[in-house]
Amino acid sequence: MLKIAVLVSGGGSNLQAILDSASRGEIINGKVYAVISSREDAYALKRAEAAGVEHIKVISPKDFESRGEFTAKITDTLKSLDIDLVVLAGFMHVLSDDFCREYRNRVMNVHPSLIPAFCGDGYYGLRVHKSVLDYGVKVTGATVHFVNEVTDGGPIILQKSIEVRDGDTPETLQRRVMEECEWVLLPEAVSLFCQGRLEVCGNHVYIK
Ligand code: GRF
Repeated sequence: MLKIAVLVSGGGSNLQAILDSASRGEIINGKVYAVISSREDAYALKRAEAAGVEHIKVISPKDFESRGEFTAKITDTLKSLDIDLVVLAGFMHVLSDDFCREYRNRVMNVHPSLIPAFCGDGYYGLRVHKSVLDYGVKVTGATVHFVNEVTDGGPIILQKSIEVRDGDTPETLQRRVMEECEWVLLPEAVSLFCQGRLEVCGNHVYIK
């Protein structure tokens, strides 16, 4: 059984999607072993408690002098728990290059657009969906990818698209992208990883 750590900062609906999927037996060969939040008031912590996650921790950047120290604490914690897969689920911090090297192809993130569109520095939360509407594209969606040193730049694991509707607002679009794309893709990607079915070759991920 692989040990999964989910890193969160907010509501934790993506964490919930993973926990629900696990309770249905769909995360094959994997267990949500730890939830680490960068905020002590994150609702995600309540979700983790309700699901009985074994290790629940708060590691806040406010308690460290630099981003390096903050990331080092996260790395130490993950190592001490012997974590196999790290999932960034609404984790609002960019991790250091050292962290990316240490956990190469073992950290995944969900981004609420079809990468390489509407991604990179500054594209988070409702800003992504506002940009989608401002540009006038007809489809959008979500992407699960491995994390590397480039923001939203790592190898793509899964993507799913939905149509943008006339009358959509950033809020309605965000909701549909979460429900129809993020909450579906993230548990699926986690399960594929835990089954050893993701093979990374350069910037390509092959599903075996
Ligand atoms: C999601 O839209 C996710 O794509 C982004 O941050 C949001 C997190 O939401 N990275 P939640 O905390 O999982 O509810």
